[in-house]
Formats: sequence, C-alpha cells, structure tokens
Amino acid sequence: MAKTVIEFKNVTKVYKLFKSDRQRFKSLFSKKANYKKKVAVNDLSFKIEQGESVALFGKNGAGKSTILKMITGVTYPTSGEITVDGRVSALLELTAGFDPEFTGRENIYFRGQLFGMKDEEIKALEPEIVEFADLNDYIDQPVRTYSSGMKARLGFAINVSIKPEILIVDEALSVGDSEFKKRCLEKIKEIIAEKDVTFLFVTHSAGSAKSFCKRGMVMRQGKLLFDGEINEAAEFYKQTVEEDEAKKKKKGKGIFEQ
Ligand SMILES: Nc1ncnc2c1ncn2[C@@H]1O[C@H](COP(=O)(O)OP(=O)(O)OP(=O)(O)O)[C@@H](O)[C@H]1O
Ligand SMILES: [Mg+2]
Repeated sequence: MAKTVIEFKNVTKVYKLFKSDRQRFKSLFSKKANYKKKVAVNDLSFKIEQGESVALFGKNGAGKSTILKMITGVTYPTSGEITVDGRVSALLELTAGFDPEFTGRENIYFRGQLFGMKDEEIKALEPEIVEFADLNDYIDQPVRTYSSGMKARLGFAINVSIKPEILIVDEALSVGDSEFKKRCLEKIKEIIAEKDVTFLFVTHSAGSAKSFCKRGMVMRQGKLLFDGEINEAAEFYKQTVEEDEAKKKKKGKGIFEQ
C-alpha cells in the first residue's frame, strides 16, 4: 500500500484582522484587543499518498494558499493536525529568504542548508542551478542588485534542483518572462514524472490541471466541497463558479431594479 505523505486532520485556520497596529500590539499582552476573525480554512481533512498528483481548485480567497503555507510551515493551523512526510519544495514565495547582501551563488548554499543538504550535495547541484537561473555575471553579484524577476528565477532554479519528494506549485506564481515560464513548466513535468514524487498544484485553469494531475480537490470559503477524479473535479469547479456568478447577478439585479 502506498504511504500517506500529507495528511490534514480537522484543520482550521483563523486569521485575526486587527483594526490597527496598535490593536495588534495590544493583543500580545491582553485578550481585549479589537479584531475580527477570518476563517480561511474550515475543519479540513484529507490525505494524499506518495506519487499522487493533485490539483487544488477554488476562487480567490477560497483558502488554497493558506493550505499550501501550512504544508510548508510558513503558517500554522489554529486547530487540527497536519503531517507531512518527505522533502517539500514549494514554488510559492520564491524570493523570500534570500540574504540581499550575499551573492546569488552564496545564497544557493544558504537555501540548500535550509533544505537540510550538506555542502558537498549543494556543490554538486550548483552548476545545474546556475545554468537554469541563467543570470550570467549577476550570479556573483549581491542579490540586492537583482530585479524581482531575477530573484524569482534564482529561487525557482534552486527549489526545483533539490530533488523534491513533494512538489508544491502555486500557478499564480510570477517567474519572469514567458520563455522562462515555459522552461519552468518543462522542469515541473520532468520532476513529477519521477516515480514516487507527490505533486500538489494550485490553479484556476482546468486545462493545466488536467494535463498535470489525476485527482482534484475543490475548495470554497475554506471548505472542501469535492475530492475525486480530475475531470469530475474540474467540471464540479466550473459549475460552482457558474452558480456563484448567477447568484451574484441575481443579487445585483435586486439592487438596481427595485
Ligand atoms: N495573513 C493574513 N491575514 C489575514 N487574512 C488572511 C491572511 N492570509 C489570507 N487571509 C484571508 O484568508 C482567506 C483565504 O486566503 P488564501 O490566500 O488562502 O486564498 P486563495 O484561495 O489562495 O486565493 P487566491 O486564488 O486569490 O490566491 C482570504 O479571505 C484572505 O483574505
Ligand atoms: Mg493564493
């Protein structure tokens, strides 16, 4: 039997929306701080097994990025339990975590260490990373001299080269020009073709979801509405979007026609 690599058990994430920085500061000492609650993920449970490729559908604000961030440990659940078993590489916030004063090449080592790699392992991957990032002489310049696109390229090159066991991609990702995007997609295809690599993909596009994934999960307002075969999931997502649009239109009509 395949092993479970990602499991969510009754996971809820509530963000606190403070009225002001003052209120946020107050909350550190007192329970009386003034804030509103936003439930981003609501009692979510699911399992993903090794080697699965799963698309996560949902409209803006459905909770997709929050789910990915909890898997990578960028943020924590308010309640519930998450288990992740394997080296996770996330193509989410590619530019986060670089030290601006150090060169691109030096930052390859920093990030490699963050992934728990030894210096020799990083050294072996360095040429591949440098080639993929395609930054020419800039690779030996401090990262503070990079454009945001250049930082994203370096981030992408590192994160795909570390031989991830679990690859997480948010399609909303901006990684520079279309030529580089194309190379990114090819690289992603190559990684997920490897046996036992698990893939989780956030997208609004049914087309790319179908070409990469076998399973689809549909989120709406923090809740999991559908989990199953990719074509059925894409169809379900399309319907929920259409229903929401129809509801919105009806509401709009009410206001203007009364
Ligand atoms: N740091 C935060 N503080 C407060 N609220 C947040 C925070 N991050 C997300 N939210 C809220 O949580 C909800 C879910 O956000 P999330 O980013 O997970 O949505 P998403 O499905 O990724 O949307 P999109 O398709 O726009 O990327 C939204 O209502 C959002 O405003
Ligand atoms: Mg998002």
